[in-house]
Amino acid sequence: MTRHHIALVPGDGIGTEVLPPAQQVLDTVGARHGIAFSYTSYDWSCERYLREGAMMPPDGLDQLREKDAILLGAVGYPGVPDHVSLWGLLIPIRRGFRQYVNLRPIRVFEGVDSPLRGAAAHEVEFVVVRENVEGEYSEIGGRLNRGTPEEIAVQEAVFTRAGVTRVLDFAFDLAARRGGVLTSATKSNGIVHTMPFWDELVAERATVHPQVSWDQEHIDALAAKFVLGPARFDVVVASNLFGDILSDLAAAVAGSIGIAPAANLNPERTHPSMFEPVHGSAPDIAGRGIANPLGAVWSAAMMLDHLGHPAAAKDVTDAIAAVLAKTDVRTPDLGGIATTAEFTDKLLELL
Ligand code: NAI
Ligand code: MG
Repeated sequence: MTRHHIALVPGDGIGTEVLPPAQQVLDTVGARHGIAFSYTSYDWSCERYLREGAMMPPDGLDQLREKDAILLGAVGYPGVPDHVSLWGLLIPIRRGFRQYVNLRPIRVFEGVDSPLRGAAAHEVEFVVVRENVEGEYSEIGGRLNRGTPEEIAVQEAVFTRAGVTRVLDFAFDLAARRGGVLTSATKSNGIVHTMPFWDELVAERATVHPQVSWDQEHIDALAAKFVLGPARFDVVVASNLFGDILSDLAAAVAGSIGIAPAANLNPERTHPSMFEPVHGSAPDIAGRGIANPLGAVWSAAMMLDHLGHPAAAKDVTDAIAAVLAKTDVRTPDLGGIATTAEFTDKLLELL
């Protein structure tokens, strides 16, 4: 019996509704594969911020440090500015634990209608590798002359040779294990310092991974191609901002943002990695028990994979595929009438 100690951070809104299903799935599949989980739950959230003035305690990262992995629901809620909640919880974890790869798989499942006519099940299956700790999301910059006609805001993007190289190497390695094709998102025609640097490093790392064929696309054209021909992609690597936008677009192509998962990986495993659905706290449906739990469940499957249990992970993704293909039980975001609990029960039955 292998035991893993998991930190649960449900966070805000539907984050608290989708983590219990993920936990049920982990316990069910773990029982079959000889994996036991123990959980420690943390109430770090916007509610905590309003109560205590901080999203998490000052020693928050230390409390997580010895855990095997972190499963997170969603962070952010009306009443607390989004940059406060994000920078008070999610970003410190990603950066503090050097989770420099954000991995976001996209798949059109049979039984889910993509809004695109051209996106058929079994054809669209790719992964976005997003740089997760530097790039455009930087604290460097400032504002001057607030509230005056002369007001200015400056924000600097930070790209380092070490930071770009390691995420590119991760993406090339992943492409080598998958279809052998990598697409790099760039914008070196408009952004004249950081993006040419990114492009140079892609070309440089390509020489170290000769088995992968690669190309690059400007982000605007790439966005259009995600819509016009999503089936042609296998691994897409992008900077922090570009990867964020592309992966939400890709999740929409796949039919619902409620299904999309993400892994924040520390590939060296010197720190815990974090797994979270792509979606946010969905204040518009929070508290009604109708959130789609599949994004959180699939994220838990990515966690199983990371913890060295690929067979258990596959059982979970197979159950997700089965519940969508073989039943018409669905939450409202997928056109159904099931509650989160009913949908989860059906999933557990198939698992
Ligand atoms: P959102 O993802 O929370 O919601 C967008 C739309 O998708 C809403 O109509 C929502 O009802 C629907 N939706 C999302 N997840 C769903 C699910 N599992 N089942 C059914 N429907 C679902 O994005 P929004 O509205 O832009 O952000 C709301 C809050 O969440 C904000 O405070 C934002 O900062 C935060 N947020 C947090 C993220 C994170 O924790 N990683 C990511 C995105 C947003
Ligand atoms: Mg996003």
